[in-house]
Amino acid sequence: MVVENMGLDHVAIKVRDLEASIEFYRDTLNMAVSDRIGDGVAFLRTPAVAEQSEHHELNLTQMSEAELAALDERDELELDLHAFERDIPEDGPPMLPTTGPIYHIAFEVPDFEAIEHAAEELRARDHPIYRGPGRHGPGNNIFLYFPDPDGYPIELTAEMEAAPEMGGKPAKRWPQTPDTWNVWLNTEDLGEANSE
Ligand SMILES: [Fe+2]
Repeated sequence: MVVENMGLDHVAIKVRDLEASIEFYRDTLNMAVSDRIGDGVAFLRTPAVAEQSEHHELNLTQMSEAELAALDERDELELDLHAFERDIPEDGPPMLPTTGPIYHIAFEVPDFEAIEHAAEELRARDHPIYRGPGRHGPGNNIFLYFPDPDGYPIELTAEMEAAPEMGGKPAKRWPQTPDTWNVWLNTEDLGEANSE
């Protein structure tokens, strides 16, 4: 063992346009900039959990000219996030569209109402929503997924189950089925069937 105990502290991502990303995380997710380094790096915190808030939970780093040129070369510099939204297969596995190796970044919100409110606000802003609101089987947490300006999917989550050591259920292996990813799928289907 290299370490005996640890917790997740912050996530760092590279972005196409640092100012556009700061604007998104500030105006959409109510984060605040703590410090910056030159024009290339910003550290952001989540003020909504201020009592436990630390200097930063997110580090945004501007992609270099070479990285931007490589994206341009692959015709991936400009993104239509709504196009990704339309590409999600209805009946396939619940994979999220993503433009980089980071699959998603999850932020905790107080409750289901906060997630419902976020979904309504995103719809009002015509911002893509990839999945949710729904509830995962493993963790029993509620989720809502939508992209940041670079296509990194953001997850808002609430009501995550406690760790097994803290009174949560013992670890197990779940079946690879859609309702493992969203336990509300079946009830939604029932609702649709009833209204037909
Ligand atoms: Fe997640």
